[in-house]
Amino acid sequence: MKEEAAKRIIELTKIIDDANYEYYVLANPTLTDQEFDKYLKELENLEKEYPELQSETSPTKRVGGEVIDKFKKIKHSIPMLSLPDVFNEEEIYEFDERIRKSGFLPEYVCELKIDGLSGSFHYEKGNLITGATRGDAIVGEDITHNVKTIKSIPLKLKESINIEVRGEIYMGKSTLEKLNQERSQKNQPLLQNCRNAAAGSIRQLDSKIAAERKLDTWIYHLPNPKDYGLKTHYEALQFMKNLGFKVNPVNRFAKNVEEILKFINEYAQKRFELPYDIDGVVIKVNDLEMQEKLGYTSKHPKWAIAYKFPAEEVLTKLTDIIFSVGRTGKITPNAVLEPVIVMGSTIKRATLHNEDYVLEKGLKINDIVSIRKAGDVIPEVVEAKLERRTGKEIDFQMISHCPICNSKLEKKNDQVDYYCLNPLCPARHIEGLIHFCARKAMNIEGLGESIVEDFFNLGFIKNIPDIYHLEIHKQDLQELEGYGKKSIENLLNAIEASKKNSLERLLFGLGIEGIGDKTALILAKKYKTVENLMNQSEEDLKEMKDIGPILAKNIFCFFQNVDNIALINNLKSLNINMMYLGEEEKYHEEISGKRFVVTGTISFMSREEIEDIINLYGGNTSSSVSGKTNVVIVGESPGSKADKARKLGIEIWNETQWQEVYESLNFQSK
Ligand code: IVH
Repeated sequence: MKEEAAKRIIELTKIIDDANYEYYVLANPTLTDQEFDKYLKELENLEKEYPELQSETSPTKRVGGEVIDKFKKIKHSIPMLSLPDVFNEEEIYEFDERIRKSGFLPEYVCELKIDGLSGSFHYEKGNLITGATRGDAIVGEDITHNVKTIKSIPLKLKESINIEVRGEIYMGKSTLEKLNQERSQKNQPLLQNCRNAAAGSIRQLDSKIAAERKLDTWIYHLPNPKDYGLKTHYEALQFMKNLGFKVNPVNRFAKNVEEILKFINEYAQKRFELPYDIDGVVIKVNDLEMQEKLGYTSKHPKWAIAYKFPAEEVLTKLTDIIFSVGRTGKITPNAVLEPVIVMGSTIKRATLHNEDYVLEKGLKINDIVSIRKAGDVIPEVVEAKLERRTGKEIDFQMISHCPICNSKLEKKNDQVDYYCLNPLCPARHIEGLIHFCARKAMNIEGLGESIVEDFFNLGFIKNIPDIYHLEIHKQDLQELEGYGKKSIENLLNAIEASKKNSLERLLFGLGIEGIGDKTALILAKKYKTVENLMNQSEEDLKEMKDIGPILAKNIFCFFQNVDNIALINNLKSLNINMMYLGEEEKYHEEISGKRFVVTGTISFMSREEIEDIINLYGGNTSSSVSGKTNVVIVGESPGSKADKARKLGIEIWNETQWQEVYESLNFQSK
């Protein structure tokens, strides 16, 4: 029996591996989904019956399930070097000249520079043994459990050889879009771009999460090509392809800079149609002997460069300036633009922040303006093109009344912003409800921005207490298009669960002007209950460290207002907790009690997420470096904050140091 099972396991493994290869590498499926599932189920059952027969490279490992408690380190057999970046034609000419001066007549291979994170994959006798991140180029992290879930990475090669290959782990554009749709519905922070999403996914301790993220790979580098008798990089690409790896078919030979530029210009246009993100073009000397002679610096090979696409700037017409009303009543002017595609996305609007911003830039309606977007940064209006003015431009005029409720707008204490102070203004209302449900406030999963807006417009939620009466509309909600029974049940459960939140979430959610999540926590900790806080005089509040006279006034006035008192009483009768529970904060000796500033980009986490973790563990975060700062966490492209920290002799953590602390927290992200 066992022998038969062993034989069948080998057969099934081959069928499933081949099907995976055909589907994920060749994009040419040969089995139907049902057939595939049937074979996989059969294999799973056999492995359940004979666990000793399950191999480390069984395709059943692809669904994930292995959970590790920390990432082990892996020393790379050969350092995982990066490439020197170049940004213009001139630098490409310099590279070419340098190579020609060394006495070579080069042939280049141009490839796309995939925007993900690099990985190294090590095989013995054709079996995947380990997968590692680049780390600091010498030592990376062991991500084998997650790499096994990437369907385009073969678990078994087509030949039984020992080999290490390198390539980019990435997330496709449509996968990110879907993932963000789901996250937005659950009120989770959105992943900023494909690169961050891939980096965050590969660093999950639980491989089930990585498996759900549907990562992909392009393999582009063989560190030991000579071991396999290869003469050129192009041959190495073909060799890896024949072993079963996914090698990008987009590449081109170039004999000179003109041909390189042609490839670059072509893909500078086509990049937006690709299903994955690229941020440039990689240019490599093809001949391996030539590569060897050119050699390496401590950081880079001398035989390759990475050309990075510039931030894109395009011209369009500013057709109007319209005004929006925020939760606090703040009025923001927004540019309405003739739709243009910048960095692959259509831009129709851009924030103009406030009246002063528009006046400083001298923008007029009907101006031709330049719009810039770099990477994942939100688009901005750079300037008006004065030479394109025709005389038909209309001067910008700040409004004097709220565009929604027509109340007179006011400025507060010489600030630049105008406010609608009508507490009943519907625009403020929707924004206020969105804020109440938000992640840092009552954290009601399933009540994201667009759903709150829908429910407001449909009349289900007109005010905060209505959220807690949503149950009575259960039937109607389930019948709404796009909602369904399960999602409404989940939503109602999330609403119920939010009643048990600690006081600081409610205090922040109420939207008292100037009270951010951190101040809300300080207040909750100090006063413990909402009654106690409501009983404080303005003077008492002013006395508190971290609360200045303006905040003290805001808090005091908020709790004097009869409508707000009624709201608190109403929420109390709905059994919403109004006490500080004090249980959310955790302790970690590297974080608790310290003041942090986070600057630059950390590849696997957004700044907001890092700050959340620091706050959760009782640290403080701020946006500027001062003598009081204890630690500055410095990511890529950090700017002046890192310089200031160095000057002041403040402790600096780089990405790896933050990673180490983060891992030691044993913090599992959702
Ligand atoms: S070759 C020794 N080729 O860009 C050669 N890199 O600094 C190693 N990348 O760290 C890299 N697409 O993460 C190479 N087609 C490609 C690439 C590529 C993306 C990344 C890789 C590397 C960085 C360059």
